[in-house]
Amino acid sequence: MCGIVAAAARREVSEILLEGLRRLEYRGYDSAGMALIDNERNLQLHKQQGKVSELEKAQRLQPVLGCTGVAHTRWATHGEPSGVNAHPHISGQRVALVHNGIIENHEALRRELLDQGYEFASGTDTEVVVHLLHRELAAGKNMLQAMQSTARVLEGAYALAAIDTEHPDQVVAARQGSPLVVGVGIGENFLASDQLALRQVTDRFIFLEEGDIVLISPAELQVVDRHGEPVERPLTSISAAVEVVELGAYDHYMLKEIHEQPQALAATFAQASGPGQLDECFGAGAAEVFDRVQGVQIVACGTSYHAGMVARYWLEELAGIACEVEVASEFRYRRRVGHAGTLLVTISQSGETADTLAALRDARQGEFVASLVIANVDNSSLVRESELVFLTQAGMEIGVASTKAFTTQLVALLMLTLALGRRRGMTPQKQREITAALQALPDYVQQTLVLDTAIESLSDAFIPRHHALFLGRGIYYPIAMEGALKLKEISYIHAEAYPAGELKHGPLALVDNDMPVVAVAPGDELLEKLKSNLEEVRSRGAELFVFADRQAGFASEPRVQILPMPHCPEVIKPIVYTVALQLLSYHVALQKGTDVDKPRNLAKSVTVE
Ligand code: G6P
Repeated sequence: MCGIVAAAARREVSEILLEGLRRLEYRGYDSAGMALIDNERNLQLHKQQGKVSELEKAQRLQPVLGCTGVAHTRWATHGEPSGVNAHPHISGQRVALVHNGIIENHEALRRELLDQGYEFASGTDTEVVVHLLHRELAAGKNMLQAMQSTARVLEGAYALAAIDTEHPDQVVAARQGSPLVVGVGIGENFLASDQLALRQVTDRFIFLEEGDIVLISPAELQVVDRHGEPVERPLTSISAAVEVVELGAYDHYMLKEIHEQPQALAATFAQASGPGQLDECFGAGAAEVFDRVQGVQIVACGTSYHAGMVARYWLEELAGIACEVEVASEFRYRRRVGHAGTLLVTISQSGETADTLAALRDARQGEFVASLVIANVDNSSLVRESELVFLTQAGMEIGVASTKAFTTQLVALLMLTLALGRRRGMTPQKQREITAALQALPDYVQQTLVLDTAIESLSDAFIPRHHALFLGRGIYYPIAMEGALKLKEISYIHAEAYPAGELKHGPLALVDNDMPVVAVAPGDELLEKLKSNLEEVRSRGAELFVFADRQAGFASEPRVQILPMPHCPEVIKPIVYTVALQLLSYHVALQKGTDVDKPRNLAKSVTVE
C-alpha cells in the first residue's frame, strides 16, 4: 500500500510533507522517510522504522530542510520493515525516489543493474527503480524523459515520485495501478496518494490517469500520457471542508467510530428521505438501470466482502433477485460465465482497493448491465470509474478495523434491496416495514452501545485464549465471519467463523474447554436448529457466548453466557448484532494491549494486489 507525498515550492516544505504523511498513515505505518534538496543542492534524508511519529522525532532532533522533497509511509511488501528498507531510496547521492505498489520484474532488473555496477542497499523491489532513473538522468535525459524510459521497463503497479539534485526545483512522478493526485497551488505544486494529504495546502486537484507521467515545479505542471503525448487532465475543486478528526473523549478511533454509528446510519439512510428519492441515491440514471436488472454480482474485499455476503440474503429473500458474491482477488482471475441483465456492484470503504478496482476494470464490455459502487470516499478511483455511485455517509474512518463503514454499507445494500425489490413484486407493506426498520435502526444501535459494560465483562474469558470459534446460521453466518475478522485483526487471536450446521463436519474436533465459542443467535426461524448446534459445542466442554434476542428464550447457565440483545425488527438485526461483536473485539484487544487502531501488518487501504 504505502502513502507518498511530494512538494515543489518556494518555501520550506518539510512540515507539509510530514503533515501529508500523518494523513496517509492509514495506508501503512511500518516505517517512514523523507528526502529534501537543501539550499546547497544536497540531498537530506531521514528514514525511520515505525510510525510517522518516529520520523517526526528524528526531524525534531535534526531537521532536514528544503523546498523540494518526497516522503513516504510504508507497508512492507518486499523487504522487512526497517530503516534501510524505508523509502526514499537513493541512487548516486543525487536521486531520491518513493514508491507505492509492487515492481514484479524487479529481480531481472536488479541483475541488469548489478552488471552495470549499481550497488543495492535494501531488500526492496523499489530500489531498482531509483537506479534505473539515475541511469537515465546520468545519460543526460531530462526528468520527464528519464521517468518515461524508466516506466517503460517496469512491470507491476506503481505510483512513483522522485527528485534529482541536478534539477533541484522539480519532482517527477508516474502512475500505473496505484493512485496519484496532483495538488495545484499558487506558485507551488504537490503530489500525493490521496488528495486528503494535501488539503492543508490546496483545494484544487488533478487526478492522474493510468500511465500518466507528470513533472511539477513551483511554476510548471506538465502531464504526458502513456504514449508520451502531452495531455490536459481536468482540474477538480474540492470545496468541502477537510474533516478534522479528533479523538475527543475516546481512547481509540475504533471506539469513537463504533459510537458514531447511530449518526452515520441515520445520515446514510437520510439520503432517501424524500418520496421517490430512493433510486436517486444511486446516481443519475439509476432508475432506468434498475428497471433492466435481472441479477446482481457483488465484488469486494475484506469487511466489504462480508457486507456483500449479508446482502445476498436480503436480495434473494426480500427482492427475489439472484445474487452472487465473490472476493475481488478471485473474481478478477476467473473465467466467468455471465448471466444477462446482471448489475455489477462493488463495495469499498476507501474506493481504492486494488483488487476491487481491477475487477471493475476487468469486467468485459457488455458483461454487465452497469456498474454500481457503494463507497465511503468521494472522488476515489472506484467512484470515478463506476457508472452508478452510492456514497455511504460514515464520515472518515481512521481505525484500520472497519466498523461504521461496514454498517453503513449494509444500510446502502438494504436500500438497494428495496429499490430492486419494489420492481419485483415486493409488497408495499413489506417496503413500509423495511423503511420503518431502517428509520428505527439508529435507536437500536444506541441501545446496543449501552450494553458496553456487559460486553466488556465477557471479554475477560478471551484474553488467555489462542483461538475462538464464531457460529451463525443464515444471514448471521456472514455476521459471524465479520465478528471473527474483527477479533483476529485487532486482538491477534485466531478466530474462525462457521455456519453452525457445518460444525460437525470438522471444526467440532477443535472444541474443548480452551475454545470459546461465540454464537450469533438472534432468535430467527433457525433458532431451534442453532440451539442443537450449541448443545453439541457445550457438551464438549467449550464456554459459550451467545448474543441472543432478549426474547429468544436463552438463559445463562454454567459455561453459557447470554448477552441479551435489544428486541428489534428481524431485517436490521444483522446490523445491530455487528455492533455488539465490534465492542467484544475492542475490549479483548484493549485488555491484550494491542495497537487497536493500527494493528500489526495491516493497512486501511490496500492498493496493491
Ligand atoms: C483492508 C482494510 C479492511 C477493508 C479491506 C477492503 O484490508 O484493513 O478494513 O475491509 O481492506 O477495503 P475497502 O476500502 O475496499 O472496503
